[in-house]
Amino acid sequence: MQTESPKENVSNTRVISGDYSPSTGSSSKTYYNKITKETFMKITVADVGYVGLSLAVLLAQNHEVTAITTTPAKADKLNKFISPIQDDEIELFFREANAGERTLHLHTTVDKEAAYSSADLVIIATPTNYDDVGHFFDTSAVEDAIEWTLRCNPNVLMVIKSTIPVGYTESVRKKFRKLR
Ligand SMILES: NC(=O)c1ccc[n+]([C@@H]2O[C@H](COP(=O)([O-])OP(=O)(O)OC[C@H]3O[C@@H](n4cnc5c(N)ncnc54)[C@H](O)[C@@H]3O)[C@@H](O)[C@H]2O)c1
Repeated sequence: MQTESPKENVSNTRVISGDYSPSTGSSSKTYYNKITKETFMKITVADVGYVGLSLAVLLAQNHEVTAITTTPAKADKLNKFISPIQDDEIELFFREANAGERTLHLHTTVDKEAAYSSADLVIIATPTNYDDVGHFFDTSAVEDAIEWTLRCNPNVLMVIKSTIPVGYTESVRKKFRKLR
């Protein structure tokens, strides 16, 4: 039973039985995901392939998620909740969001600076294709995301979901020590 308006609860930072939109600060009866001021985070996800987009959509139920893509057309599609990839669950979530049955706090952008600067947490899910000839993972896209993050938001926590070789995080810590 809802005893107080969600707004009152949010300003008092107590657990709420209503719902709260971090983007607008407003509440809505159509929301069924509960977000309180003390639990929601601003999460930035780079990029929106299978791994990044699934994480972005799942997390956008309970956090404010900004997804980064290098392709403006993909951003436009995602901002209309149209999936650029074939995935039953993402498509279902987007259909429900478009029907007003599911709340997703998801915005996709090509503006890396704004996306990295505003994050409480950065998730890196860029490709790391294996080079069969040189026998190494191409981690350049991961490093690009790390560099952007450190430039825009030096103390933020980064989580790398991309496939990386053993010892990689240790080596990038050393490589980017001056930027942290
Ligand atoms: N941790 C896990 O559970 C898990 C599971 C599967 C895959 N992975 C890894 O996650 C990573 C992403 O996999 P995926 O299946 O989502 O890949 P994907 O190919 O579906 O998506 C990669 C996305 O990155 C974009 N992209 C391409 N080049 C880029 C660049 N230079 N900079 C920024 N973005 C770029 C592409 O346009 C695409 O949207 C890979 O390293 C993969 O091995 C991790």
